[in-house]
Amino acid sequence: MAKEGLHQTVLILDFGGQYNQLIARRVRDLGVYCEVHPYHRGMEKIRELAPIGVIFTGGPNSIYEEGSPRVDPEVLRQGIPVLGLCYGIQAIAFALGGRVVTRQQREYGRTAIWYDNSCPIFKDLPPEGRCWMSHTDSVEEMPEGFRAVAHTDYTAVAAMESADQKIYGLQFHPEVLHTEHGIDMLKNFLYEVCGAQGDWTMGDFAQRSVEALREKVGDKKVLLALSGGVDSSVCAALLSRAVGDNLTCIFVDTGLMRKNEGDEVERAFSGRKLNFVRVDAEARFLARLKGVTDPEQKRKIIGEEFIRVFEEEAKKIGTVDYLAQGTIYPDVIESGLGDAAVIKSHHNVGGLPDHVDFKEIVEPLRLLFKDETRRLGQELDLPDYLVWRQPFPGPGLGIRVIGEVTREKLDIVREADWIFREEIAKAGLDREINQYFCVLTDMRSVGVMGDGRTYDYALALRGVTTTDFMTADWAKIPYPVLERISSRVVNEVRHINRIVYDITSKPPATIEWE
Ligand code: XMP
Repeated sequence: MAKEGLHQTVLILDFGGQYNQLIARRVRDLGVYCEVHPYHRGMEKIRELAPIGVIFTGGPNSIYEEGSPRVDPEVLRQGIPVLGLCYGIQAIAFALGGRVVTRQQREYGRTAIWYDNSCPIFKDLPPEGRCWMSHTDSVEEMPEGFRAVAHTDYTAVAAMESADQKIYGLQFHPEVLHTEHGIDMLKNFLYEVCGAQGDWTMGDFAQRSVEALREKVGDKKVLLALSGGVDSSVCAALLSRAVGDNLTCIFVDTGLMRKNEGDEVERAFSGRKLNFVRVDAEARFLARLKGVTDPEQKRKIIGEEFIRVFEEEAKKIGTVDYLAQGTIYPDVIESGLGDAAVIKSHHNVGGLPDHVDFKEIVEPLRLLFKDETRRLGQELDLPDYLVWRQPFPGPGLGIRVIGEVTREKLDIVREADWIFREEIAKAGLDREINQYFCVLTDMRSVGVMGDGRTYDYALALRGVTTTDFMTADWAKIPYPVLERISSRVVNEVRHINRIVYDITSKPPATIEWE
């Protein structure tokens, strides 16, 4: 038990694969508490956590390469159930005296596979299906005591088991949705093999986070950047529960907010048990953005200015030790920490200036995906309208006005966005479409209104459906709704004479335009 009597724990040993946090999230979704740790801390963590099971993640290496991560064979001798995924199966085979080979050809993507249903991992599942493969190496000879329990046309040992030792390996990735019944396989490992009871809930996560924050922060002062979005609101609720009056939430009105947003946020938070400060900083943001057109530069400037405002406010409060941020997991990986490529510098991670006047940054939501953050918000009794609010990026409308940001353009996009949101809500689509907003392009085109020629802006509407915001599909908004939005915007908002709807998914596009 991680903490006596609290709950069962699964230990995930990280071999550097890209899906590691996804595995963790699946395990938590299945009601089992888990922690991810570097592979070489296996035995140390087993002693500390007494896990009911261990999962080895995938990884980018080849097992015979110099310096490639190796399993400590001790981990496999504890009698604790082990599940190795992708590189993990190879690491098991290697550690126990099997043989792994590098094949001529890579097996990649959705692949037909056949299972042996007598293996508990595949219990009660269809005997064949599709799985997600991504490997060049595979197990050629299994260690003693193992048998193959799945195969593809190309790979004889697509899964192996040693029922006596409770050690299992899958060459494919059950954690990604492309593997049919992949989640059931993880469930089978947890419930059939490890004897999980499903004793971990979001309430538990909330409780542990509150305890951890209390322990870390003590009676020091914390400053939170509250934007009124889901992430920072959940962060505020969590921190106020943990440290009460020592939390000050600063809402920076950048002038880049949506219509009425500043007032709404103020209304929602000023009545709660936390210190709420609203700073009107529109003039200084717009002054710094004057003449700037490059998206990355805009993001950096906005991020920096944010921090400056906080530093100034912090000084007014006295000694502030911690700056809290509602950074969630997709922000972390998309900012190019670790080995992931830099796509955009999200201001709350990559764009931090070097000099920050705080002892430390606390990010209690750092390991959560968006949907988990919402669940936590519900757990913390946040009102639905905050929990279900669509995400709004930190740089705000600054990255939804393409090219130079001016007050006039901001007002145009604000008015249009208000109408768009109103019509989507009226059509009952506001939960179905996960994010929707307007982008003011810097393209002008010729139109005709009344008897006169116009030469005005083209506005783009963007609507996406997604669960994790890392991939997204464009939303199929019904034509009559689009029609109403188009005619209302052109009639009610000056300087827009053309509306386009963005029909690209992510990838290859991103959700925001900048
Ligand atoms: P992209 O455009 O990268 O957006 O596909 C993915 C999600 O992240 C939001 N987003 C941000 N959120 N700070 C944030 O807090 C940022 O700098 C930022 N940039 C994008 C975006 O709205 C979408 O939900």
